[in-house]
Amino acid sequence: MKSPYIKFFRIMSIEKQCFKMKYILIINGPNLNLLGKREPEVYGSQTFEDYFQILCDKYTTLKLEYFQSNHEGALLDKIHAVGFAPDCTGIVLNAGAYTHTSVALRDAIAGVKTPVVEVHISNVHKREEFRHHSYVSPVAAGVIFGFGIKGYDLAIESFLIG
Ligand code: DQA
Repeated sequence: MKSPYIKFFRIMSIEKQCFKMKYILIINGPNLNLLGKREPEVYGSQTFEDYFQILCDKYTTLKLEYFQSNHEGALLDKIHAVGFAPDCTGIVLNAGAYTHTSVALRDAIAGVKTPVVEVHISNVHKREEFRHHSYVSPVAAGVIFGFGIKGYDLAIESFLIG
């Protein structure tokens, strides 16, 4: 029979691992639920659900969560909900078109504690002028764009270095 002390220390070490596990939330904004179908020449042909599974298989020691909404208020609510959670290491945010229009989103990011890395699949600076301005960038911890869907992976990596 196993000593109760060994059992106790094993439970303690599992709790320690869980406590240390990094939690990263990926948020996609409007129209990004259409990835795979929407303008594949710009955004690729992979669905985000398939790509998210690849990320989960790669980062088995992370707690990854994915949230998508086409509604500005729902994006704000999600940022508020995790933005003060001590266990949330970071938010990877592709705000889609709200990037270029939403002061409310900018204020939400500025108002929470959790760092946000802004991601865009396409190189927004190679595209129409209205995509060149971002309300998110000035309050983001960093910005990644133009690397296709891999940009989300790069953003996760940015939370693991240093
Ligand atoms: C996008 C770029 C935005 O300009 C656009 O409105 C999107 C997607 C990107 O990932 O490249 O919806 O954020």
